Amino acid sequence: MSNILSVQNLSKTYKSGNRELTVLDDVNFTIKEGDTFSIVGPSGSGKTTLLGLCAGLDRASSGSVVLNNIVLDKLTEDERAYVRNQYVGFIFQNFQLIPTLTALENVMVPLELRGERNVKKQSLQLLERVGLGDRHHHYPAQLSGGEQQRVSLARAFSNNPKILFADEPTGNLDEETSEKVEKLIFDLNRESGTTLVLVTHDLELAERTNRIIRLRGGKVVSDEPVQV
Ligand SMILES: Nc1ncnc2c1ncn2[C@@H]1O[C@H](COP(=O)(O)OP(=O)(O)O)[C@@H](O)[C@H]1O
Ligand SMILES: [Mg+2]
Repeated sequence: MSNILSVQNLSKTYKSGNRELTVLDDVNFTIKEGDTFSIVGPSGSGKTTLLGLCAGLDRASSGSVVLNNIVLDKLTEDERAYVRNQYVGFIFQNFQLIPTLTALENVMVPLELRGERNVKKQSLQLLERVGLGDRHHHYPAQLSGGEQQRVSLARAFSNNPKILFADEPTGNLDEETSEKVEKLIFDLNRESGTTLVLVTHDLELAERTNRIIRLRGGKVVSDEPVQV
């Protein structure tokens, strides 16, 4: 299997006044296509920053991210947006749906950006798949947290991503709702053969993936396969 994601000597620093804050420090790993992978670590350890760099949402200070054989480091913002739309799905802890669009319209956005046909039909099918076919005309504010996250799952899978990034996707949900959303993530992932990169505090959830990386203070402190 080929590598879908390769992270080499990746560092990220932020300047605050004349001081530099190192948020990620020489991170290295590669993920093979179809693999499932978790990143765990305490709050502030750099997990969200790392995921954002891997997904091309942000740029590193040094080092390299290669996604689907595309080197992201030198790309412009527009070029990275194109790569994301072609290959990447992203699920945020706080859903990040567009409040002025209905559930259906939110799911349609990535497909419309690609200029696809039958966008509405495909999007409705996805909403049905996550159990929200009858709520398609509702706005995010009319949906519960779990329902909003299911819409964002439908959106994340709508462009048939090669790789799905999920940043604490159940962090804002109660236990029962979390279980439903987790099951959907793993089911959709299996059905579509997507690579999954998951950030979570929940070790039980992390242990459902094949491999766990631990971050502490922006450094990788362990990188091990999950024992089955
Ligand atoms: N835009 C930014 N400017 C300055 N510091 C930031 C910025 N984004 C994140 N940080 C800092 O980087 C560190 C890691 O943040 P983050 O990646 O969100 O960690 P995690 O997701 O593991 O909680 C934190 O100390 C945070 O305050
Ligand atoms: Mg975070």
